[in-house]
Amino acid sequence: ETMYERFLRQHVDFPATGGTNLYCNTMMQRRGMTTPSCKQFNTFIHEDNSTIDTICITRNILCKNGMMNCHAGVVNVTDCRDTGRTRPPNCSYQGRASTRRVVIACNGNPPLPVHLDSYL
Ligand SMILES: *[C@@H]1O[C@H](CO)[C@@H](O)[C@H](O)[C@H]1NC(C)=O
Ligand SMILES: *[C@@H]1O[C@H](CO)[C@@H](O)[C@H](O)[C@H]1NC(C)=O
Ligand SMILES: *[C@@H]1O[C@H](CO)[C@@H](O)[C@H](O)[C@H]1NC(C)=O
Repeated sequence: ETMYERFLRQHVDFPATGGTNLYCNTMMQRRGMTTPSCKQFNTFIHEDNSTIDTICITRNILCKNGMMNCHAGVVNVTDCRDTGRTRPPNCSYQGRASTRRVVIACNGNPPLPVHLDSYL
């Protein structure tokens, strides 16, 4: 799995709109984020691959780690937060849909998303 493929697996689901607890419970398990432990927080972006790739060619901004290969865009997302009420792999999430700014790190030529930098 490349970094880009990993980014798509963990963070992209289109044309779904998500937004519910059931969506998160199903998708977090299907996309492999509920073993060996329940991933505490994850965001699914509901935009197509090319729309997200295009964020990589907007102006560079500072990433949390101090590098300058980050970029921001406004997208439709579902944020999934682990409630801690059940055990892996049956993790239980609270799902919330919104349209908000995300910051992604991009690498390569052409640049592709490799990491979702800031969640909120
Ligand atoms: C987005 O990328 C994934 C992984 O490479 C692929 O399976 C999917 O078909 C792509 N979706 C679109 C709309 O191009
Ligand atoms: C979010 O989804 C709505 C409804 O599908 C769409 O009209 C809108 O353009 C999307 N917003 C963004 C930022 O993609
Ligand atoms: C997870 O949920 C499934 C379906 O409800 C159930 O069959 C299984 O025993 C559960 N596994 C654990 C580890 O709780």
